[in-house]
Amino acid sequence: MARRRIIAGNWKMNKTPSEAVALCNELKDLVKNDDVDVVYCVPAIDIVPVAEAVKGTNVHVGAENFYIEDKGAFTGEISAPMLKEAGVEYVIIGHSERRDIFGENDILINQKVKKAFASGLTPIMCCGESLALRKAGTYKEWIARQIKWDLTDITADQVKTLVIAYEPIWAIGTGETATADQAEEVCKMIREIIADLYDQATADAVRIQYGGSMNAANAAELLSKPNIDGGLIGGASLKPDFGQIVNA
Ligand code: PGA
Repeated sequence: MARRRIIAGNWKMNKTPSEAVALCNELKDLVKNDDVDVVYCVPAIDIVPVAEAVKGTNVHVGAENFYIEDKGAFTGEISAPMLKEAGVEYVIIGHSERRDIFGENDILINQKVKKAFASGLTPIMCCGESLALRKAGTYKEWIARQIKWDLTDITADQVKTLVIAYEPIWAIGTGETATADQAEEVCKMIREIIADLYDQATADAVRIQYGGSMNAANAAELLSKPNIDGGLIGGASLKPDFGQIVNA
């Protein structure tokens, strides 16, 4: 089954609103590709100006995070209805930086996945192992556990529209990319886990990205693998290189 490729930028905590608009304008012609879903996941304060800047183009807007309540006394947080009204379609959930720096656990991540679906947002749900787990050889069990926890009570129909990002923590922002074979091994395993938890049709539909130092030079090889349907790109999403990845 042909899955549509999805290339998403994760801008992280980079770009002021005016810088964000300038980057959208710089990338506008470079990211044109009707066969790929292109998403910019941007800081909350950049969402409104970025949505305006990409209007009429092939770029979709994503958020990097949100909270599970619609409104109320949650100082500093942003809700799904706020994102929806601003034109957001995708939201990154469970990025390793949210897990490690901000203490998000799989219970909250599962609540966020549920809330995103209930709100009409498509989750880009992240998983991945530390260097210690990779070296210990227990990374597969770890990722399987993350997927099971994070998808608790999520239906097959929802999973068919889900995006899962496999991001080995040791490859994020380090310049050290997983080899295409290492990335494919885990993305294939994730698809098998989905087949076990749901069914083959669901596993065939779910889109799985690789993330971790993906760049203009290594994207084509990673994306040529049968179970890698796209990329979640940090550093290289802030540069013209992103256009080369979209068109790799
Ligand atoms: P990187 O980040 O491309 O800079 O390694 C990827 C990510 O954290 O999503």
